[in-house]
Amino acid sequence: MKQRPEPADLDDIQGLVYSGWGEHPYAAYIFATLGDDVARSRAWLAALRPQVSSSALGKYGDGDRLNIALSPGGLAKLGVAQEVLDAIPQEAKNGMASRARILADDEPATWELGRDNELDVLVMVFARDPERRAVAVIEQREALVAAGATVRDAELSFPLGGKEHFGFSDGVSQPTIEGLPKQRAGAEPPIPTGEILLGYENAYGKLPASPHWDGFDLGANGSYLVFRKLHQHVDRFWGYVAAQARALESDPAAAAELTEKLAAKLLGRWKSGAPLVLSPDRDDPTYATPERANAFGYLEEDPYGMRCPISSHVRRANPRDGRGGSAEESLDVVRRHRILRRGRSYGLPMADAEALAGRDDGRSRGLYFISLQASIARGFEFIQQTWLSNPGFMGLFAEPDPIMGNGDGTAEVSIPASPVRLRLANVPSVVTVMGGGYFFLPSLAALERLSLTAAASRSDVAGNPSRQEQVAQNRELGDM
Ligand code: HEM
Repeated sequence: MKQRPEPADLDDIQGLVYSGWGEHPYAAYIFATLGDDVARSRAWLAALRPQVSSSALGKYGDGDRLNIALSPGGLAKLGVAQEVLDAIPQEAKNGMASRARILADDEPATWELGRDNELDVLVMVFARDPERRAVAVIEQREALVAAGATVRDAELSFPLGGKEHFGFSDGVSQPTIEGLPKQRAGAEPPIPTGEILLGYENAYGKLPASPHWDGFDLGANGSYLVFRKLHQHVDRFWGYVAAQARALESDPAAAAELTEKLAAKLLGRWKSGAPLVLSPDRDDPTYATPERANAFGYLEEDPYGMRCPISSHVRRANPRDGRGGSAEESLDVVRRHRILRRGRSYGLPMADAEALAGRDDGRSRGLYFISLQASIARGFEFIQQTWLSNPGFMGLFAEPDPIMGNGDGTAEVSIPASPVRLRLANVPSVVTVMGGGYFFLPSLAALERLSLTAAASRSDVAGNPSRQEQVAQNRELGDM
């Protein structure tokens, strides 16, 4: 069983796996629903494929970066047979809008995006400047329309210099994956490649389930991609913590300091990205360097959450060695629920004064949350359902995640401290889900296979009598 990518695989794996394309801060996410003409859709994909950026990062110059994801519905519109799609895990086939109960989402009928699981295609363009992005969006749009697709207005990112809209550094912690370059020093132990990429051994010592088409492994070197448009109520977040701080501190300077601290307690890191576990009392950016920002655990350093509350977003989203039992036991469980995050922000930032006063300016802003994982159920969904939305996470009570818990305004957050802990009540819901979808991020070889004309693919079938066996084997290996 393959454990890690060989150098040749880098040409095959889409670049988004290896890089968030940070040097291309202007992203556009173009969603489309394909038409019914399979040949036209395949011809569109054939023309697009040479533009797709792989993980062989060194070979790309100054130009844009492009990646593409297809939903199971999109694969069907490209002519992939139902029996092939059967090997795709159920949650991916059902689509995000059908998982509202598990994700504790509001009724998807109110969503802006993907409310009927209708998004077949996601073309992601990453450009160095807005002008180049605009050109790329027009080109991609025209190509899709020419293929008979219905194209939505592009979702455009707004770069915030490595921060998200609440003002915190984003993308500080990412899993380290065996066999990938660009590993960070001081990071956590690597997770098996098969937790992110199909075709490699996962944390159960198995190959992730993968759809095979006429003997061709469509999954190998691919990943599943979750896209979620998350509106951030910056006024509610900062307005709430500022009001709490003012109630506890009458001196304005002390209240301002406490406001920052309470916000950090809800997140689990300071705005700079410095972890509370290492720097509990103040924001010290020297702890936010790549070498130090993830050089910590919870079990030894902070078992009761005196530094970083159990309820905080980062502690729930990745409990590291503190999930229960020994450090090894905890890491063994936690490594089955890791995701690569590739999100970007959208919308103009809110002025601090408005935010602290809790005044909504009525503008649209938030996070395009994007995660990559070999299993959406074990990755994104598990984290959202079992760790973030769960009010009883690790023995807590009535405490969903203060950022992503989808609370109804009655949630609490306890902040352990000595001599008395602080209990924040009526924590508002600070994020609203605007929609999204579940996609597959195929390898470049799979994109080529998917774009073959019907005649070419028929000639393949004859040479590959073992397809059914392979699909059956994959089902068996499904490790949910
Ligand atoms: C608008 C919504 C969200 C905001 C503002 C937000 C913000 C943040 C911030 C500031 C961090 C710390 C910096 C970093 O490590 O990147 C973080 C970490 C993280 N978030 Fe979120 N997040 C949001 C939604 C989500 C969702 C929906 C999930 C998954 C279901 C998630 C999973 C994670 C994970 C896994 C980490 C890394 C934790 C670690 O390894 O220590 N986040 N988030």
